[in-house]
This record gives sequence, C-alpha cells and structure tokens, in this order.
Amino acid sequence: MDGMAAAGTALMKAVRVHTFGDPDRLVHEEVPRPSPGPGEVLVRVHAAGVNPPDGYARRGFADLPEAIRPAWPLPFTPGWDISGVVVEAGAGVSEWQPGDEVFGMVNFPGRGSGYAEYAVSPTGHLARKPASLGHVEAAAVPMAGLTAHQFLFDHLGLGPDDGPVLVNGAAGGVGHFAVQLARIAGAGPVIGVASGRHESFLEELGVDRFVDYTRTPPEDAVRDVAVLIDAVGGPHGHRLLPVLRSGGRIAPVFPGDYHPERAERAGITVSGHQVRSDGGQLAELARLIDADRLRVGIDSVFPLTEARRAHERAERGHLQGKIVLRVEAP
Ligand SMILES: NC(=O)c1ccc[n+]([C@@H]2O[C@H](COP(=O)([O-])OP(=O)(O)OC[C@H]3O[C@@H](n4cnc5c(N)ncnc54)[C@H](OP(=O)(O)O)[C@@H]3O)[C@@H](O)[C@H]2O)c1
Repeated sequence: MDGMAAAGTALMKAVRVHTFGDPDRLVHEEVPRPSPGPGEVLVRVHAAGVNPPDGYARRGFADLPEAIRPAWPLPFTPGWDISGVVVEAGAGVSEWQPGDEVFGMVNFPGRGSGYAEYAVSPTGHLARKPASLGHVEAAAVPMAGLTAHQFLFDHLGLGPDDGPVLVNGAAGGVGHFAVQLARIAGAGPVIGVASGRHESFLEELGVDRFVDYTRTPPEDAVRDVAVLIDAVGGPHGHRLLPVLRSGGRIAPVFPGDYHPERAERAGITVSGHQVRSDGGQLAELARLIDADRLRVGIDSVFPLTEARRAHERAERGHLQGKIVLRVEAP
C-alpha cells in the first residue's frame, strides 16, 4: 500500500515504523486515510502526545521477555494520545458530531496510530478537549494523566488525609500529574523526588517537599511514607522500601523489583497495573484543568515531520512534563 493507494482513496500524512529500531526508523510518509467503523469516529489530529510506550513499540518491545512481547505487524503508525476535531462519525455514533473538539488515549493497551493527520477512535476513549487548552497541551494529558489518576485512585485508593505521599519521577509525564492529583484529593504532605533542575517546577505544582535524588538518596532522607507512586521502578525499586511505614502501599508505574518477601515482612503492599483508555475519567481531568486546578507541563514540541527528533529527546530522558507532536493542517 505504501504510496500506492487505489485511485480515489483519500490519503494523509503519517509517521510509520517499517523496521524496528532507533528513532531514525520513524518515517513521515503518505498513507491511506482510515475510515471509522461502527461506534468509532474519525478525528482530524491537531497534536499527538509522545509517551514512553511509543518508543517501546518502535523498538519492537525488545526489552520485554519474548513470551509476553506483543507481535505488531509492520509497518505501523505509533502513538496513543491525540487531540483534534471529529470530522466523521461511524454508524450508531450519537455521542460525537463533526466539529467536536476532543482528546483521548486511543486503544491502549491495544495498538494506537496517533502520529498522523487523521486517526480513528472508539467513542468511549475520547473526552471533550478542555476549553482552556490548545490542542498541543491537550494532547499532553491523556496517557500520563490517566495513569496518575488510575494508579492513585483506582489502584492505591488514595483519599483525603492519606499520606505522606511520595512521587518518584515527579517531574515527568505521570509524576507531575500525580503530584497535583494527590493534592487535589486532599492527601499529603506530597514529597516529589526528581533531579535538581525540576525543583521550582515542582514547587509551583504544589509539592510540600522536594528531594533532589542526585544529591540526597530519598531512602536516606525520607521515612514514614504511606503511599509511593513510583514512575522510575526498575531493578533497584526495592531501595525505596525503607521510606515506607508498615501498612504502606507501592504502585510501580514502571515495573520494578521490590523484593516481595522483604516488602511483605515490612507490611508493605506492592501492586502493578496497566493504564486503560477511559473517556469518562479523561472528562474528569478536563474539568480539573478548566477549573485551573490541574496544570499541564510541556517539555518540548516538535512538528510531526520531526517525530524522530521527538523520540531522540525522549531517549535523553530527564523530561519536565510532556513531549508533543504538532500536526499541521493537511
Ligand atoms: N503501567 C502503566 O500503565 C504505565 C503507564 C504510563 C507510563 N508507564 C511507565 O512509567 C514510566 C514513567 O512514565 P512517564 O511518562 O512519566 O516518563 P517520563 O515523562 O520520561 O518521566 C520520567 C521522569 O523520571 C525522572 N527520573 C529518572 N531517573 C530518576 C530517578 N532515579 N529518581 C527519580 N526520578 C528519576 C526523570 O527526570 P529527572 O531524572 O531529571 O528527575 C523524568 O522526569 C515509564 O517507564 C513508562 O513506560 C507505565
């Protein structure tokens, strides 16, 4: 199909991966425009958010054990987070009409295809775009915001007066929303762990205490935490066990080794989860944004044509908020 769509087929620009590997595998090219099926809408994408799993998919999920590695046929268009305008509604759709401004995390944990001028979405994965945000900022919200929301409230059961709460990786996509949502829930105090350059960013977002992990290991400086949302995880995740009190709860956003037997002896529960598309929860985040209670941090913005540079930025790490692709009008 590459550049050979049948006469009459509408085309669009999209970024595709033809072979797994480094960011230079992201190819900006012309592809057939998708059509919405029953229960779906076609969205003209104005901006697409960049998330860590976009890079995992680009590399063919090579870091995952083969037994659980998703088999994605090539070529594919990466990306789950979009913000744009509905241009066509499929059969049976009454929730959305052409002209509606929407945003969403589309089809996660299935396959996404957001790095494109147009994307198809199930109606339930979308919410009305916050009126106070442009498309670039709105596209920064869905996966990171939903992850923070689902981990804090659905999985950790965070409530008022719950705390202290420690957010590890606090300046990144998930972390900066988690810090704010914990405060909105009335939990606290909220402790943010990040590298030193993010201190004022996190103070403005409302952390009660900032720990620069490059100077002070949090495991040496923090005690008595009730709730840890860990966006860093990894093989050394267990080093944070001493910061928790007995009865404490850990939600690893990125999977890690928390020495399960040691954690159990210390009375600490650890439960990992995966974020899911949810337009209803996204609408709650949109309400908080429009009420000026939830802010969106933007690390950097790239045109869709330069998705490669966006992924290179992601791979350098130390993000402050989100990376977004701006999609110009066709
Ligand atoms: N389970 C799920 O469903 C789910 C959903 C979304 C994301 N995730 C995973 O969660 C992780 C975080 O996602 P994200 O979108 O927030 O990533 P991100 O935007 O890249 O943020 C990661 C943050 O961690 C900080 N960091 C790095 N090393 C650190 C350390 N040793 N201690 C404290 N902070 C450190 C980085 O900045 P500084 O080093 O400068 O502080 C950066 O701000 C990713 O691995 C992603 O794959 C999982």
